[in-house]
Amino acid sequence: MLKAPIYILAIESSCDDTAAAVLSNNKVLSNIVARQAIHEQYGGVVPELASRAHQQNIVPVIDVALKNANINKNQLSAIAFTQGPGLMGSLLVGSSFAKSMAMALNIPLIAVNHMHAHILAHFIDEDGFDKPKFPFLALTISGGHTQIVVVKSFFDMGIIGETTDDAVGEAFDKSAKILGFPYPGGPLIDKYAQLGNPKAFKFTKPKVPNLDFSFSGLKTQILYFIRNNVILNENFIEENRNDICASIQNIIIEILMEKLKLAVKQTGITQIAIGGGVSANSGIRNTLKESEKKLGWKTFIPKFEYTTDNAAMIGIVGYHKFLENQFNNASVVAKARIEF
Ligand code: KG4
Ligand code: ZN
Repeated sequence: MLKAPIYILAIESSCDDTAAAVLSNNKVLSNIVARQAIHEQYGGVVPELASRAHQQNIVPVIDVALKNANINKNQLSAIAFTQGPGLMGSLLVGSSFAKSMAMALNIPLIAVNHMHAHILAHFIDEDGFDKPKFPFLALTISGGHTQIVVVKSFFDMGIIGETTDDAVGEAFDKSAKILGFPYPGGPLIDKYAQLGNPKAFKFTKPKVPNLDFSFSGLKTQILYFIRNNVILNENFIEENRNDICASIQNIIIEILMEKLKLAVKQTGITQIAIGGGVSANSGIRNTLKESEKKLGWKTFIPKFEYTTDNAAMIGIVGYHKFLENQFNNASVVAKARIEF
């Protein structure tokens, strides 16, 4: 007899995106994200505004996710939600909603670590996308995190390197802010970088031991570089926009690749999977693809919609936890910081 599929409703509200998805086993039936445009004018996420917007968005987003999946709430097997890390006020909206809904439907509740989800997003079943085999290295690069993780199994993974200050997404966004781009500026740097010369301007790599990263010094370097050049030529940014963006992106890629090469050397693992919002970056994607030929690595790049924050990645963790009966009771709480 064919086993009935497991239907998971997943909710993600850790930062400024309200997201819901429905999965049937490891396949995504719907994946809805409501982005919050309100933060653009402030040049960064305003936590209080984010939680208010989540309150407004959460019911319609879940409603659309269920409708698009053609699933009735009574068919759901479990509800998975982001427990952390993230902004407390934002996490509270999703976690409270998930708890209440699981209780009302009398189905299991599954708390998910957002960073696990960025890594396990690779196990969503999608045509044309291979799944990595254990063990592999995961490079999670987002607005909040920069980590190299050794992934031994779905739930056995450990951080071997991480940022000591800014995340790589912040390096993109803060550089973009210096250039006068709206928040989040990462995608704009990517767009203009594709038209520019990556060797036009030289920035230096920070010296950080082992597999750790640092991006705050680079931000200061870029700030002074722009400031000094604008003193000499007030149109410096406009006249060199593409080359500046290409050079900034180039140094960030060099920093990431240097540490990845070291991680491969130290662990002997040559399968690399990237995740997190910054893995949408075309330069990083291209460089990783080239590394397959140049360095003999096998690389895994998620489908675009699973790179930035989304609930499908929460759902895939939920599915694997469901298979192992890893459930939570209603006393589970949201955590701004969470043990890996
Ligand atoms: O994973 P994510 O959606 O949220 C966090 O968990 O932080 O990542 C958002 C980050 C932002 O810093 C954004 O600028 C960056 O990902 N990002 C990019 C690109 N697309 C998104 N950075 C560089 N190039 C891109 N194409
Ligand atoms: Zn994220």
